Amino acid sequence: MSVPISQQHRVPPVEAGQSDSEPVLMVRDLGVTFPARRGHSAVAAVDVVDLDIPAGTTLGLVGESGSGKTTTGRAILQLLPSSGSVRLLGRELGGMRPGELRGMRRHMQFVLQNPYSSLHPRMTVEGILAEPLRVHRTVPASGIDARVDELLDLVGLDAEVRRRYPHEFSGGQRQRIVIARALAVDPDFVVCDEPVSALDVRIQAQIVELLTSLQQRLGVSYLFIAHDLAVVQQIADRVAVMYAGRIVELGDVADVYARPRHPYTRILLDAVPVPDPDVQRARLAAPPVQADLRSAPEPEGECVFGRNHREDGSPEWHLFDGGHGASCRYWPAGVRPDDTRA
Ligand SMILES: Nc1ncnc2c1ncn2[C@@H]1O[C@H](COP(=O)(O)OP(=O)(O)O)[C@@H](O)[C@H]1O
Ligand SMILES: [Mg+2]
Repeated sequence: MSVPISQQHRVPPVEAGQSDSEPVLMVRDLGVTFPARRGHSAVAAVDVVDLDIPAGTTLGLVGESGSGKTTTGRAILQLLPSSGSVRLLGRELGGMRPGELRGMRRHMQFVLQNPYSSLHPRMTVEGILAEPLRVHRTVPASGIDARVDELLDLVGLDAEVRRRYPHEFSGGQRQRIVIARALAVDPDFVVCDEPVSALDVRIQAQIVELLTSLQQRLGVSYLFIAHDLAVVQQIADRVAVMYAGRIVELGDVADVYARPRHPYTRILLDAVPVPDPDVQRARLAAPPVQADLRSAPEPEGECVFGRNHREDGSPEWHLFDGGHGASCRYWPAGVRPDDTRA
């Protein structure tokens, strides 16, 4: 049975000085609206997004193309104007002065999908890796050489590749260079936006393994964006499912994958084969959800979980055991929570 607990999801921001107990990253009510352009109306690409990422853990962010994953990552990194609150290491990034924000950038880095376009073609590997060290001055100039060797070793590349250029490497090796560059300044948090989507399956597994072992060694936290749910299952501790700019479900990966609450999560998972035959059988027995969820009606009275948000003012977020939550938005008519896979 689902037990909606209305207010737990909206945690009030922790005051300065209490940051010890705070997750590395805390996002509340994040919103990004792209203004209307000729022929296009304004797009609420990200809407009321709340996320927490504790130190040394990975939050997977999944959802179909266009659901707002990249925009979420960029807004968190303050690369886009946004509303709401983004706190990194207990400090509010929104409205931070440019100089101060520049200082915070060494704590937050990113790894993007395409290692071909994200490395400067005319820079050598050592130039690429030394650049963030110079910008953020995390090591003295005399220590840069040694740090470059250390970084190459960290990502499993030979020290002798230092003088080579990006085009001399395979896709997987280039992604190792991108990862080394992201980790050069010892960040606390890295946004990995589809970091293995452009690689073939065997190489994907190697990069996922590398990211996992680096997390164990360095304690870095990841926001791992992917449309491939199998990859997220390998790397993430928790997973957030995004639909139309909103998080519709969030919880421990094992829990969400075994007992998805939201119909959209089911649609995503139905496309992924599972090795457990019992789970797979139960899955196929459940009726598929095919409705266009965007056109699902807003509930007039009680929502699918039995709350009347208009009357009691409770949020659309509903919490279950183990901090597993789901939104009551975007449920097609006729589908009830109890119809979801047990
Ligand atoms: N710079 C932009 N200007 C206008 N609309 C944008 C821009 N970037 C993204 N969008 C729109 O925002 C929505 C979310 O895009 P995105 O975050 O890239 O999704 P995802 O990463 O999940 O594929 C899409 O509707 C996309 O068209
Ligand atoms: Mg994207």
